[in-house]
Amino acid sequence: MVVAGPIDPWPETAAVVTVPWPRNERGALAGLKTTSYGENVRALAHARAHGASEAVFANLRGHLCEGTGTNIFYVVDGELRTPTLASGCLAGITRRLILDWYGAREVDEPIEVLTERASEAFLTSTTRDVQAIHRWNNRELGAPGPITTEVRKVWYEREPELLGA
Ligand SMILES: Cc1ncc(COP(=O)(O)O)c(C=O)c1O
Repeated sequence: MVVAGPIDPWPETAAVVTVPWPRNERGALAGLKTTSYGENVRALAHARAHGASEAVFANLRGHLCEGTGTNIFYVVDGELRTPTLASGCLAGITRRLILDWYGAREVDEPIEVLTERASEAFLTSTTRDVQAIHRWNNRELGAPGPITTEVRKVWYEREPELLGA
């Protein structure tokens, strides 16, 4: 099945919420891109009901995992971090390119790092590119923060390479 159509550009920043259901990092489909999106649809409905445009999952260990259609990067003490693939997150292409082009530490830690310690955070995906997060649950984050701004700059400088420009 192929669906094609124009997509509206995403706003520069997004609000996200943590959902009450876990990603199963030990499940048969963990990390795979499949059309089995029922859990994501339910989670996204939860996010929209809470005024957010993306829902984020922790995994069974309570570690940060990913959004319904996005990977997550965040900053603690000036260090850019993102969950490892062992967290159960999809190995997103945008995630990989940001690791290659900018760099970040891959680390798994409790999702509360986002509501207690992170100074900035952003979503990555093929449609959102690098989208700063301005609110995580009830916590406001400066968005875009300085590192997010740098990553966005690198992204838009290098993105044309992907289009053969
Ligand atoms: C569950 C999930 N995580 C992350 C991503 C981001 O991947 P990409 O950067 O390849 O678009 C997607 C994209 O659809 C996804 O479905």
